[in-house]
Amino acid sequence: MDGRDLVRSVKIGSAGAAQRVRTVRAAWRRRRADAAGLPRRGAERARVPGPVREVEPGPGGGVVRFSRSELRITVAVNGAVFWGWDGAAPEPSYALAGRSPEPDPRAVLEPDKDGGWRVVAERVTVVVSRHGAIEVLTPGGVLLRRDLPPRWWEPVGGGTARWMQRSEVAADARFFGLGGRASGPRLRDGTYRLWNTDPGRPFGPGDDPLYVTMPVQLVVADAATHLVFHDTSWDGTVTLREGEEGAGSGHDREGTSELRMDGGPLRCWVMVGTPARVLLAWASLTGAPALPPAWALGHHHARWGFGGEQEVRRIVSGYLERDLPLDAVHLDIDHYDAHQVFTVDTERFPKLPQLAEDLLRDGIRLVSIVDPAVKAEPGNDVFDSGTAEDVFVRDASGQLVRGVAWPGEVAYPDFTHARVRQWWGRLYEERVSQGFSGFWHAVNEPTSFTAFGESTLPRSARHALEGRGGDHREAHNVYALCMAQAAYEALSGLTPQERPFVFSRSGWAGMQRYGGTWSGDVATGWPGLRASLSLILGLGLCGVPYSGPDVGGFDGSPSPELYLRWFQLGSYLPLFRTHASLRAGRREPWEFGAEVLEHARVALVERRRLLPYFVTLAHLARRTGAPYVRPLWWAAPEDRALRDCEDAFLLGDCLLVAPVLDPGTDRRAVQLPRGRWYDTATEQVHEGPGQVLVDSPLARVPVLARAGAVIPVRGEDGRQELEVWAPAHGRTGGGLIVQDVGDGRPEPEIERYLARWEDGRVVVEREGEDGPSESPHPVRIRGLGAS
Ligand code: GLC
Repeated sequence: MDGRDLVRSVKIGSAGAAQRVRTVRAAWRRRRADAAGLPRRGAERARVPGPVREVEPGPGGGVVRFSRSELRITVAVNGAVFWGWDGAAPEPSYALAGRSPEPDPRAVLEPDKDGGWRVVAERVTVVVSRHGAIEVLTPGGVLLRRDLPPRWWEPVGGGTARWMQRSEVAADARFFGLGGRASGPRLRDGTYRLWNTDPGRPFGPGDDPLYVTMPVQLVVADAATHLVFHDTSWDGTVTLREGEEGAGSGHDREGTSELRMDGGPLRCWVMVGTPARVLLAWASLTGAPALPPAWALGHHHARWGFGGEQEVRRIVSGYLERDLPLDAVHLDIDHYDAHQVFTVDTERFPKLPQLAEDLLRDGIRLVSIVDPAVKAEPGNDVFDSGTAEDVFVRDASGQLVRGVAWPGEVAYPDFTHARVRQWWGRLYEERVSQGFSGFWHAVNEPTSFTAFGESTLPRSARHALEGRGGDHREAHNVYALCMAQAAYEALSGLTPQERPFVFSRSGWAGMQRYGGTWSGDVATGWPGLRASLSLILGLGLCGVPYSGPDVGGFDGSPSPELYLRWFQLGSYLPLFRTHASLRAGRREPWEFGAEVLEHARVALVERRRLLPYFVTLAHLARRTGAPYVRPLWWAAPEDRALRDCEDAFLLGDCLLVAPVLDPGTDRRAVQLPRGRWYDTATEQVHEGPGQVLVDSPLARVPVLARAGAVIPVRGEDGRQELEVWAPAHGRTGGGLIVQDVGDGRPEPEIERYLARWEDGRVVVEREGEDGPSESPHPVRIRGLGAS
């Protein structure tokens, strides 16, 4: 430790003590604010809808009036069904991308048996019983979901009602989704909370809730897949219980879901069909996933505590000297001046724009962390400007809400106000002028460090909520979503020639419009590795396709084996980023010995080779809502064994990745969907459905290619090539390719390819309006030896 470090560590020590005092004070302040500012919970009156009284048909459905509530039902043209109790309408909503979709004029409300009503549409039938139970059926009449009549508890003196909605699903159904969950992707029996939360320490599979919660369930059953979204941002819980089949006895027990919310409208959307169709409808409702710039699909290296410019340069040289691909370096809060957002520690980073320029010459981008909390101290420019423009969250008595974050005592911008989003967005100009190309939003649940109680703002804190006015109970879960919107919209104007790159630790339904997310502080260890895959799969099914874990885990020091397995998994995920905490061990690939370095190099080089495929998947995600990383059941949801398989995934339509999630594994079982699959390392053929054993030496994780797959890859000369896996004899194959035209916004075309056997060889042609033509890209056929 040199003198300067010593001074710094002494400062941190005393700063630590001062920070602890602040967290105690803030916790008391929060408690007092809520005691004064929240309505007291007194006597409540329970209510159910009661019997049906009358109906009023309308476009796409109509209104069904019960004695104590009314239900509005609309089937939209894209097949999505909306219903809202107590007159709730689809808008206003933070989840929806624009105005809600047009009603389907062919969907009409008609009488059903026993005094109930139904709406029959092309893709779904909805039946409303006399007492307000709602059934969702396939067009063939198979029941997918039954929502029992809801129940409200209303404060006797008036105020926000709590409510509960119990639903039943098929006995064979499996639940997925609810945002980013560490113990999935298949959601086991238990209660899951809907309140974005910083767990306050590195998390593992048992930790719930985490940073991104969403009232979005994806339910996969024999008859169909459906997605249900309860559009309310309030705190609540979902209790799930999988069903059980009576093994032919006829006594199946259905699965159940019980949603209990502290408030907010009782309204929901349901989409029915194949997984692909459901995600398409979801993306058309909540918005197309933002397209990351191509460089963001490469390899990122981050760390909290790089120390300074010299260390960043040393690490970048470490990559370059070893010829390891690197596309982005992320600077954490330690590059700020005293942890204050939108500042630079000029002692450690004296010439940040120069550093950015130098890195860019080697094709490496700089990404900046951006925390929402602003040091609440006059003299801090952001605080002064925010105070002048009245942007910070206040409590019910009009006082500024002060929390605690890295810079000490802080104020929080109210992102639920368009004016505040614009003010915040303008601050990114400083970041852009420092040379940053991407933005990493953290601690935006929002988090306020606390000695006790909840680590967020008081629930009574006031928010604009787009002019409607409300408090943190409603605004909390959409806080980060609105922050992402502010950044995305500002960057679209600040750097119009580039696609914004924003990823955010917290968020809510619809966050994909502005960017992606990452695992947050996943605990280093084999359980953490598994949790990180669970999160990424679950988020993809909730419409957020771009994410990835802290490769190596956030804390501590992974064993070389664990680091390598994490690195190999990460190399097949959309956000491929090594990152770790201030006190954690190193995460550079050369810090784990020569063998790990060699295998990590293979993973990095393969990632770069697959970059055109990742670009294609990003474009397809934007156009179709399909995540890049999908559970194995995606293309065969009727295969029940796949629904339970959580240790492998599909990367697009072409590849099946079977990461190693346990130590000492040199061979592992892989559950295959139907069809022929090639082990891409050995070209050995496996026929699905069924389970096979494949080699998984330290050098690689098993990756299988679907017979007939056409995969765009980067050839050795840097040009695009097609890697084609021979279709089974007598079969055809094919694929879609989207080539990026720079990092701007022009809309590239989708190229379609067909692979087929002709005279004993595989022919690959591009399909066009004038018929098939020769592929403009070199084609390499693989798997021929096997057929
Ligand atoms: C939070 C983030 C983490 C970051 C740290 C310091 O814990 O999740 O990624 O390194 O804050 O900014």
